[in-house]
Amino acid sequence: MNLLTTALEIVHHLPPHYLERTLREDVRAGLTKPVKTLPPKWFYDQRGSELFEQITQLPEYFPTRTERRILADHAAEMAAASPAETLIELGSGSSRKTPLLLDALKDAGPLRNYVAVDVSDTALTEANGELSRDYPDLALQAVAADFESQLQLLPRDGRRMIAFLGGTIGNLEPEARADFLEQVRELLGQEGGSLLLGTGLVQPPEILIPAYDDPTGVTADFNRNVLRVLNAELEADFDVNAFEHVAVWNGDEEWIEMRLRATRAMHVRLPGAGLEIDFKRGEVLRTEVSAKFRPEGIAAELAAARLTIVGQWTDEDERYAMTLAEPL
Ligand code: AVJ
Repeated sequence: MNLLTTALEIVHHLPPHYLERTLREDVRAGLTKPVKTLPPKWFYDQRGSELFEQITQLPEYFPTRTERRILADHAAEMAAASPAETLIELGSGSSRKTPLLLDALKDAGPLRNYVAVDVSDTALTEANGELSRDYPDLALQAVAADFESQLQLLPRDGRRMIAFLGGTIGNLEPEARADFLEQVRELLGQEGGSLLLGTGLVQPPEILIPAYDDPTGVTADFNRNVLRVLNAELEADFDVNAFEHVAVWNGDEEWIEMRLRATRAMHVRLPGAGLEIDFKRGEVLRTEVSAKFRPEGIAAELAAARLTIVGQWTDEDERYAMTLAEPL
């Protein structure tokens, strides 16, 4: 690496056209199901990432600020329990909360590397640009990769802490979560190291629903953004404003479901995916699940992947938990 350049290199682990191809596959599979679904990762083009940043500022959306609070209060304990040489952050997005962890790990000892992993190039470039100014002594790496399928490509040397924050694990359904934790366990391997996991906790619907259906409509706009992404990337012709935002609490699965409901019957063409679909009036498209957890459930899912809890921290209202786990 040229030490005189300040620009950050992005290491591309995604094969060429990986995103275009997986978007097409996800759309073809999801929109031909009896209940139409799309995976939430497609919200996050530049506009979607900006809308998510706005969501994190809403008074109703508590996860981000609650996690920040827990980190501010307890990052030193987390770092002492797991003094890592390398911090790997999965789905790092804007990396806004990362400094709290970096500072604690620096104070605890041997931190040398930070690796940000995200599918969004723009988020990686912006975030690491800021961090490189504030942490001149740290080796920063931005890795464009899909944390669901490409963990095996990440650095394996030295003691690592793998941070998966924001409650993003809740966007995976139980089977995908089990696969993911299995891969994390594999990545931690024999060298040791830890997983730091942020999870929203089960709350009464009166608290959860407004967090996903705010009165100003930012979340509605974020939800509809996935249709704009499909229009742009697949030359689709969704009438974005003909869909309304719905957030429901599924008490059996213990997750929030975001849906888009067609306000009239529609025929939609998606030439980039070689697909044409119909919506009945009132038909819903499921765009996201955001699972909430109970402490015993977190422990059970980790144990199933041969990971054991070495520390757990919550806020005083017990809305959010951060769990530090290590290979059994
Ligand atoms: C991506 C997990 C941080 O599920 O809470 C925010 C995304 N969706 N509002 C979540 C989201 C609707 C968010 N995370």
